[in-house]
Parts: sequence; structure tokens; C-alpha cells
Amino acid sequence: MKKILLSLNYLIILVVLGACSVFIKLEGEKYSITKIPTHFPLVNHPEGNEFTQARWELGKKLFYDNILSLDSSISCASCHLPELAFSDNRAFSPGIKNRPGKRNAPSLANVAYHPYLLREGGVPTLEMQVLVPIQEENEFNHNIVDIGKLLEKDSSYVKMAMEAYNRAPDYYVITRSISLFERTLISGNSKYDKYVNKKEKLNTQEKKGMELFFSDKLKCSSCHNGFNFTNYSFENNGLYLSYADDGRFRFSKDSNDIALFKVPTLRNIEVTTPYMHDGSIKTLKQVIEHYDSGGKSHVNKSSLILPLGLSQDEKDYLHTFLLTLTDNEFIQNSYLRP
Ligand code: HEC
Ligand code: HEC
Repeated sequence: MKKILLSLNYLIILVVLGACSVFIKLEGEKYSITKIPTHFPLVNHPEGNEFTQARWELGKKLFYDNILSLDSSISCASCHLPELAFSDNRAFSPGIKNRPGKRNAPSLANVAYHPYLLREGGVPTLEMQVLVPIQEENEFNHNIVDIGKLLEKDSSYVKMAMEAYNRAPDYYVITRSISLFERTLISGNSKYDKYVNKKEKLNTQEKKGMELFFSDKLKCSSCHNGFNFTNYSFENNGLYLSYADDGRFRFSKDSNDIALFKVPTLRNIEVTTPYMHDGSIKTLKQVIEHYDSGGKSHVNKSSLILPLGLSQDEKDYLHTFLLTLTDNEFIQNSYLRP
């Protein structure tokens, strides 16, 4: 299908028509184009928080502003770095006063499509998720009402909030605008995507790796499937016999959920090192060794995680395929930066 370049006003019409290629062009051509790739569903901006450029600009400004943390030392981007597909290269990102974190910061690429958030899936919307880092003692350790009061003293924030939501820069505006910005972090233009859209070819090794990835033997795509390489289910992939982190159990209190974690996306996996909920695996090659070994026999380990008996060549092919999921346009997109 031909790509359609359109102004936002026409987006609704396209939703109705079910057009499959939509470019959201931000007004005035001041900004780069946030693309919804042809093979992705449209992003659902919830009622009351529909996309506008003013909201997006405000959300972006807040995402990068240290004012959100109690001592004004860190921002969302301190742990979600654009050049790392909005993840972090530390196992646990420290919060204010270097307080140690408890989990590895995931990539925010395509977070708009997640049906629930955090590794145990306990938070239903992006709007609500914003409150988590704001309140966590080892993240911002702040209070959203107090942040609103600080923002009200800043005339540029007052002006932007009025323009965006017709009210003061309060809790409502903070949670809405940041989540709206997050919904535009769309990544779907990797080499693999270009291959899917018949714009680029994969080389022999990459193809062999792709076949392995989607094969019945490896079963990677039983969990890492769909356009975002995750089915969002909660699984145990056999990292430990005994986990320090209870995973989904924290939320559900069901013992079958002990040490189950949301299946992460594999998009941009090359740059989102270290891996797993605790950042315990440093390289992609080590992740492949982990799956090849079949993992440790935790009581809740998925029956899909079994020793694979891969040859060195097969491991290399698989690794090469995973590298085709890097979307350089996304991680270098200057318009998603301050
Ligand atoms: C101190 C580091 C840190 C800061 C600051 C931080 N985050 Fe995070 N973020 C994390 C970690 C760690 C997780 C995973 C937490 C978990 O699963 O329990 C996470 C998870 C998330 C998720 C869920 C992603 C998913 O796959 O479910 C979103 C969305 C998010 N952060 C957005 C933000 C926003 C917006 C801000 C600023 C308001 C922010 N983060 C500030 C470290 C941080
Ligand atoms: C039973 C479901 C399941 C299968 C099958 C599976 N994975 Fe995973 N994968 C997971 C879960 C769950 C995690 C996150 C575990 C954690 O956070 O501790 C994960 C994590 C990963 C990560 C690290 C992602 C990150 O951002 O930290 C990579 C890479 C990965 N898997 C690749 C693969 C490959 C390659 C295969 C096939 C050989 C595979 N997976 C098979 C469920 C699965």
C-alpha cells in the first residue's frame, strides 16, 4: 500500500477507513514524522488524551526535566535513554541520591501497545504508570501535587499546560502529557521490518537465524511473537532455581505466578543490554547460551524452555537475526530528544 502523508486532522478519517499506512505529521513540519509502520496497528490515544502537538511538546519537556525528582537530580530519561531505545545500560538504574533500583529499566519502544505495564503487569495504563517513578523512594521520591506547585511557578509550563489541556500544570496534565509522549515512541523500521515490507533483503545468515527463531525447535516465537515480538504473557524462562524477585506473584499473590515476568519485546535488543528483569545477563550471546542450556528447573519454568542443542553456527545465525531488530532511525531520532 502506498504511504500516506497526512496532517493529524485526517487521522480519524483514516482510522475509519482502516488505512494500513499512516504517517502522523506534526504540524508546521518543525518536527520529524512519527511513523506508524504499515504492519503495525494504529495507536490508541485514549479519550480525553487525544494526540495534539501541544500535549506532545509538553510531555516531551516533562519527560526530560529533572524537576520531577525531589532533589531535581534526575528525569525519566536518566533511566530511559533515547540512544538505548529508551532503556538503560545499567542492571539497576539508581534513583535520587544514588539509591539502588530493584529492576532493570525496560525499553519504552512501542510501550503504547502494552496491555499492562511493569514486569509483573500490575499497572493498567500509561497515565497511571507515570505515578510509579514519581512516588518510588528509590526513583524520584516526590509527590505529584508538589510537582504541580513547582510547575505553576514556571510561566512557560503554565502557558504550555493551558495550550495543551486548558488548565494549570497539575497532576492531570503531568500524567496525561507524559503518557501521550510515550505513545509516540514507535519503533518499526529495523532491517527486519524493511525485509517484511519487501524493501530490503536479509543475508543468508540473517535468514537462517530468522528461520531458527520462528522454528518449532527453538520456540522463541511462542512467547516473542507479533509485530512487537511479545505476546505480553507472564513466563518463567529458567534463569534461577530460586529468584530474589517474586515477579508477577507480587501483584497476583498466586504461587503459580512466582518468578513469572512479562515477556519483553526483542525490538532494538542489540542496544538494550543488560538483559532480563534484573539485568543479570550482559550480552546477547550469553542470552542465547542460556536458552541453549534449557535454563534452571524452577518449579514455574515454562515447558517451552528446553535444552536446544544448537551448533555454534546456529547460535551465530540466531544472534545475527536478533541484530536485524535494531531500528537506527528510532534510536537516533533527534525529535524524540529534548
Ligand atoms: C530510576 C530509574 C527510573 C526512572 C527515573 C524512571 N524509570 Fe521507568 N522504569 C524503570 C524500571 C526499573 C522499570 C521496570 C520496573 C518494574 O517492572 O517493576 C521501569 C518501567 C517503566 C515503564 C513500564 C514499561 C513496561 O514494559 O511495562 C514505563 C512506561 C516507564 N518506566 C516510564 C517512565 C516514565 C514516564 C518515567 C518518568 C516519569 C520513568 N519511567 C522514570 C526505571 C526508571
Ligand atoms: C516461555 C516463553 C519464552 C520463550 C519460549 C522464549 N523467551 Fe525469551 N524471554 C521470556 C521472558 C519471560 C523473558 C524475560 C525474563 C526476565 O525478565 O527475567 C525473556 C527474555 C528474553 C531476552 C532478553 C530481553 C530483555 O530485554 O531483557 C531475549 C534476548 C530473549 N528472551 C530471546 C529469546 C530467544 C532467542 C528465544 C528462543 C531461543 C526465547 N527468548 C524464548 C520468555 C520466553
